[in-house]
Amino acid sequence: MSTAWKSRYAQRVKQIKSSAIRELLKITQRPEVISFAGGLPAPDVFPVDRFQEACRRVLEYNAHTALQYGATEGYEPLREMIARHLSRYSIRAKAENVLITSGSQQALDLIGKLLLNPGDKVLVEAPTYLGALQAFNAYGAEYVSVQSDNDGLRTELLEPSLRLGPKFMYVLPNFHNPAGTTLSEGRRHELVLLADKYGIPIVEDDPYGQLRYEGEHLPPLVVLDRENLRRDDGYSLGNVIYLSTFSKTLAPGLRLGWIVAPPDVIAKLVQIKQGADLHTSTFIQMVSYEVAKEGFLDEHVKLIRKVYGARRDAMLDALKHNFPSEVKWTHPQGGLFLWVTLPASMDCQSLFEEALKQNVAFVPGDVFYASPNGEGGHHFRLNFSYMQPELIREGIKRLGAAVKHQLHSRHAVHAS
Ligand SMILES: Cc1ncc(COP(=O)(O)O)c(C=O)c1O
Repeated sequence: MSTAWKSRYAQRVKQIKSSAIRELLKITQRPEVISFAGGLPAPDVFPVDRFQEACRRVLEYNAHTALQYGATEGYEPLREMIARHLSRYSIRAKAENVLITSGSQQALDLIGKLLLNPGDKVLVEAPTYLGALQAFNAYGAEYVSVQSDNDGLRTELLEPSLRLGPKFMYVLPNFHNPAGTTLSEGRRHELVLLADKYGIPIVEDDPYGQLRYEGEHLPPLVVLDRENLRRDDGYSLGNVIYLSTFSKTLAPGLRLGWIVAPPDVIAKLVQIKQGADLHTSTFIQMVSYEVAKEGFLDEHVKLIRKVYGARRDAMLDALKHNFPSEVKWTHPQGGLFLWVTLPASMDCQSLFEEALKQNVAFVPGDVFYASPNGEGGHHFRLNFSYMQPELIREGIKRLGAAVKHQLHSRHAVHAS
């Protein structure tokens, strides 16, 4: 007799669904489709030669360590390098504050496991990163969503939600996925003060912070928390857990990210990670260290900024020339995405279908809302890092035609 596996699944996995984006990417991967749907870095900027050379060196000089089990905390020289790098942004972390993870996605999962009991509330922005919702859902999270605007999370709306006692807040201050917005400096100060006032910790997710194409770097929440409230010299008392990754600065296939947290939190996360995967690949950590060292990563990030900055400009320019004035979009100062707002009466799902007929794709906004209220139906996300500028221009032209077609057919329906 064969087992009815479904009836044996644990309660916690019943609410897990396959990511809507992954399903959608399957449709949009047809070669004739110009896809702005995925959040993919451009493969043409992967530093392939440097990786080849680094693999060779690691295997020639360090193969026995690289191919052996390693420490759960991560490869020590890499943790030290990350700590040094963070100190440039005034994040006073030591290697002991850094846990290497298998991508930031694992960091989100480990944090969910560490902090969430079924039914616990997580305060998130509306919209927010879909992958975080997927990670937290597995631990039975419920959500309190707070609106954001062009300056990020609307901190003036926070207090009633903080009074509901969320376990923590999950916030993306830089070049938000999906909104492309940046949390203003004033709101950053307000956010850490309110977090402190209500005793609610912050998980600050920052995969894109280095990819700024215009404007000045803004202080991370983890820095403002220390400077405004702790007045300690290091990273022992903080109210903020900080996450980042090599996915957007080196390559996402490495699956290499990190958590920065007070040492006692790191110690607990280490125990949890042991149960998940023992440690992140030693070989990949050593190779990535070889690639990143001696200033290469800094130089490479400059190249990425140049390439993606030009693609962002190509998209903004094409939107200006091809989209009707009823449609609005954000102006991202960095990162990979911008967020389009349709007139309230226009429906994103039917636009998506029309766009696919024109062989162009995006991600409809509703998947990015933890507490769906219909608002997502008027938004969509566009990625500008993956496609070359000529294809960006052509894709936005097609999308503009699809938008106009929808608008006109709507007017026609209203008129009839
Ligand atoms: C906001 C955010 N957090 C985390 C991740 C996951 O990144 P990683 O590839 O490091 O797992 C992404 C990936 O797109 C992201 O946009």
